[in-house]
Amino acid sequence: MLGIKRLKKLTSTVLMASLAMLVMTMFAPLIERAPEAADKGVVNLYTSRHYGVEPVFAEFTKETGIRVRFTTGSDSALRERIRAEGRHTPADVYIAVDAGNLWLAAQDGLLQSVKSPVLTKNIPAHLRDPENRWFGLTQRVRTILYHPGRVSPADLSTYEALADPRWSGRLVMRPATHSYTQSLVASLIKVHGEAKAEEIVRGWVANKPTLIDSDTRILETLAAGGGDVAIANHYYLGRLLEANPAFPIRVFWANQKDRGVHVNISGAGVTAHAPNRENAIRFLEWLAGPRGQKLLADTNHEFPANPEVKPHPIIAGFGTFIRDNISMAEYGRLQAAAIKLLDRAGYR
Ligand SMILES: [Fe+2]
Repeated sequence: MLGIKRLKKLTSTVLMASLAMLVMTMFAPLIERAPEAADKGVVNLYTSRHYGVEPVFAEFTKETGIRVRFTTGSDSALRERIRAEGRHTPADVYIAVDAGNLWLAAQDGLLQSVKSPVLTKNIPAHLRDPENRWFGLTQRVRTILYHPGRVSPADLSTYEALADPRWSGRLVMRPATHSYTQSLVASLIKVHGEAKAEEIVRGWVANKPTLIDSDTRILETLAAGGGDVAIANHYYLGRLLEANPAFPIRVFWANQKDRGVHVNISGAGVTAHAPNRENAIRFLEWLAGPRGQKLLADTNHEFPANPEVKPHPIIAGFGTFIRDNISMAEYGRLQAAAIKLLDRAGYR
């Protein structure tokens, strides 16, 4: 039991602490430390893209003298961190995979608009934010992959056609929680409207797809006979083929007779409070140029965003194809609708 004296003392301590908190809150703008002086020789990145990036950054440093410091994390965790750090963030650049993530960062006010003739010339309009707060740097194609021992390419055509009962028990797909699935469904909403898109997704669900939250494991499952047809990003096959040229899975470019195959991006934007803004813009411009594009795209077997730059031989070997040129911003705009639709349709 607390004695009366101790209770009084405790109460006054709590009161004093509350008063101190109140004063700190009132004068917070005055007692915050000033933003750290920009370091001329540095650019700080928060990046969810992490495999094979060091050699790319090293080359940028070699060419410009600007050192690259980077922090990795998930797309959403890094956004949360930039938001929490506010105007004291050390991050100059946010690098993310999937246009939906870049769109969310811009929507939350975490990125600033950049006027750069180099970026607008090198990156096609549909691969960047209409307000130039983020820019696609590489393209990833989410398409149909199949086991040639069990499926003839003549039987494949579109994402929509995978709703046909002939694929019952034969599909391997990514869960609804992943942004790759959400962006694909956002593209269906854009082209068909919600009702038709839902019908298609219900068709997939009725075929009882095996859901696996890793594209690499999706393709390995296909190879091992755990399914016949999958939807996955092309570069996972590129990676598996590089490690084992005999890997049995083949790529099929979806929707070639209508809008083209579904494309997404990895990309970047300059943060709203970037301490090294000039270096950040220089970094993005370099990544959008021939050398940066080649290195960045090739480390992950992706297609460069800059149409002047040639893709890696392994993925060039997949053949030419038509891409859906929907604006990447639509994936962000329709993301919430896509998540709700997936839920309604019973896609988990
Ligand atoms: Fe990926």
